[in-house]
Amino acid sequence: MKFLIGLILGILVVPLCLFFYIRSGSAPTAATDAPMPFEKFIARGGLHARIDKEAPQRDVASFTTGDLAAGAEVYQKNCAFCHGLPQQPPSAASKGMFPRAPQLFTADDTVTDDPPGVTYWKVRNGIRLTGMPSFKDALTDQQIWQVSALMARADKLPPDVLLELKPAPLPAILAAPQMETAPVPVTPASDPAKQK
Ligand code: HEC
Repeated sequence: MKFLIGLILGILVVPLCLFFYIRSGSAPTAATDAPMPFEKFIARGGLHARIDKEAPQRDVASFTTGDLAAGAEVYQKNCAFCHGLPQQPPSAASKGMFPRAPQLFTADDTVTDDPPGVTYWKVRNGIRLTGMPSFKDALTDQQIWQVSALMARADKLPPDVLLELKPAPLPAILAAPQMETAPVPVTPASDPAKQK
């Protein structure tokens, strides 16, 4: 009898506590909150097991400078916003994310030790419950390998490739604010309904 009461309490009390904890508004839901107990274990443990099972193996040592430059172009357009560029301060977005976006060209954060297949898996599939998107539908398989090869060699890239990873120049209007701009001619509003 005691056992039964204990069992029922156990089954009811734990979910009820969880329910009230979440509804009370104290669960971490902001990007700036500290992690929950076990949050890291649940997120990381599962990810590693999945990647071990699925990551393809490929030697990217034969990738040419042309491949790396193509990877750099992919990186500029799709990744730099979160993961930053060589010799630059951390990207603005990276600072406000939880988990934060690693700065993949800084000594502390590079993934040069990871096999390229692991990076390939992460870029292709994304990392659930983090800001890391899946690029499966945005990039071709070859582009994902090229950017993975770039990541694998992030600490020893040829100068031609580094040139591709310079920050984009400011738009002319911001770069030269002292310049006088001619007034924009005002054209009569075109009403699509009247054009017919
Ligand atoms: C919107 C922001 C965002 C964009 C865009 C983005 N990432 Fe990420 N990425 C993240 C975050 C956040 C993490 C950290 C995930 C975590 O902690 O597990 C991450 C993790 C990674 C990792 C794993 C790093 C490690 O230490 O294991 C790699 C590699 C990576 N991203 C590569 C890329 C590449 C390549 C692109 C572009 C094709 C890209 N990411 C685009 C946010 C982004």
